[in-house]
Amino acid sequence: MHLEGKKTSIRTIARPDLPLLVKWKNDPVIGEMVCGNPVITTLELEEKRFERQLEEYSVLRLIIENEKGVPIGFMSVTEIDKFNRKVELGMLIGEKKYWGQGYGTDALLTVINYLFNKLGFNRVGVEVFRYNERARRLYEKLGFVQEGVQREGLYKNGTYVDIILMGLLKKDFLQRRKELAAIVGIPAGPGEGKKHESQN
Ligand SMILES: CC(C)(COP(=O)(O)OP(=O)(O)OC[C@H]1O[C@@H](n2cnc3c(N)ncnc32)[C@H](O)[C@@H]1OP(=O)(O)O)[C@@H](O)C(=O)NCCC(=O)NCCS
Repeated sequence: MHLEGKKTSIRTIARPDLPLLVKWKNDPVIGEMVCGNPVITTLELEEKRFERQLEEYSVLRLIIENEKGVPIGFMSVTEIDKFNRKVELGMLIGEKKYWGQGYGTDALLTVINYLFNKLGFNRVGVEVFRYNERARRLYEKLGFVQEGVQREGLYKNGTYVDIILMGLLKKDFLQRRKELAAIVGIPAGPGEGKKHESQN
C-alpha cells in the first residue's frame, strides 16, 4: 500500500523499518504519550509483531515518510471491524524534530481519507491521554469529537489519568472536506483531484 499526501507519504511497514520503530517507541517522551509510561520494546519483540501482522487482517501498520522519503513516523490501524465499518487508530511522529510542522496532520488526513473514501469505513476512533494536548489538538483540528472519558484509565507515576475517547464519522469528514482539502492534498470532492493511492 502507498498513499501520497502533501507533505508525507504512507506505506506499509517493512522489516528494515523495525530498528527505527524500536528507537521511536523507546523514546521516553514518545512512550509517555502512546503508552503512558516509557515503553520498552526490543527488536526481537518487534520482529514477532511483524511476523504476526503478516498473518492478521485486523491490523494495518504503516510508516510515515517526509517529502524526501525519510521515515519519520508510524501509524497503526487496529480493531478493523468490516461489519460495522469502523477502526481504531494510533500514530506517532518518531523523529521529534518534525513535530509541530504539519506532518502529523498531513499523514492522518491522508490515511483517514483512504479509510473513508477508498475502503468504505464509517468511523475512526482514537484514545488520547488527557495530558497529551498536542495530539488532542491534532485530532480536534481534523474534526474528531470527544465521545467519552475513561476515568482514571491510566496509572502513571502513582497517579491516575483520564483517557479521552474521540471519534470521527465519515459524514462529518465529508462535510469538512473542502476545508480539509486546503490543508492536505485530498480531492475537494468525489472524482476531483489526482489519484492518491496505489496498492503493491
Ligand atoms: C501527536 C503528533 C502525532 C502530532 O504530530 P505533529 O506533526 O507534531 O502535528 P502537527 O504539526 O500536524 O499539528 C499539531 C497541532 O498541535 C498544536 N500544538 C503543538 N503543541 C501543542 C501543545 N503543547 N498544546 C496544544 N496544541 C499544541 C500545533 O500548533 C498544531 O495545531 P495547529 O496546526 O492548529 O497550529 C506528534 O506530536 C507525536 O508523535 N507525538 C508523540 C506521540 C503521540 O502523542 N501520539 C498520539 C497518541 S494519541
